[in-house]
Amino acid sequence: MKNLEGKTVIVTGGAAGIGGAITTELTERGAYVVAVDLNDDAGKEKVATNPEKIAFLKGDISKESVANEAVALAVSKFGKLTSVVNNAHASRQKPLMELTDEDWALSMETGLKGTLHFMKAAYPELKKPKDLL
Ligand SMILES: NC(=O)c1ccc[n+]([C@@H]2O[C@H](COP(=O)([O-])OP(=O)(O)OC[C@H]3O[C@@H](n4cnc5c(N)ncnc54)[C@H](O)[C@@H]3O)[C@@H](O)[C@H]2O)c1
Repeated sequence: MKNLEGKTVIVTGGAAGIGGAITTELTERGAYVVAVDLNDDAGKEKVATNPEKIAFLKGDISKESVANEAVALAVSKFGKLTSVVNNAHASRQKPLMELTDEDWALSMETGLKGTLHFMKAAYPELKKPKDLL
């Protein structure tokens, strides 16, 4: 099992579901995690499982300001950022003929634009010389 001591990772949708499991796995291997999620209750519960290693930011990943806040939190609380897991992607599973523009926009705003915002926000920290994940 890879030792991740000294790493700091942002996990979008990191409070529950697959992202929640990623948060737990990373911290069990020694990493610090900033979990970004809309689900406040799940976020607080996740922090309670390992308060020294997990920080929670409640926010919508489609907002650029949330990506910037997450990076600032990683640096202020854990000293650096070494990786981002762009896990969250909101989508509505429907038959093709029932999909609306609003459904499509939600998917694009979270899955594509959210990922772009997080990678742009993280890049200045990720390019600093260090041992990346
Ligand atoms: N579950 C599956 O079978 C499956 C299969 C293939 C791919 N995926 C992908 O894996 C990822 C996680 O899947 P999951 O089933 O754990 O998802 P999920 O629907 O359980 O959501 C995971 C977390 O993301 C958070 N989230 C949703 N929209 C958000 C937003 N706009 N901002 C911040 N947080 C938000 C939710 O609150 C939740 O805690 C998604 O990208 C999904 O598309 C899932």
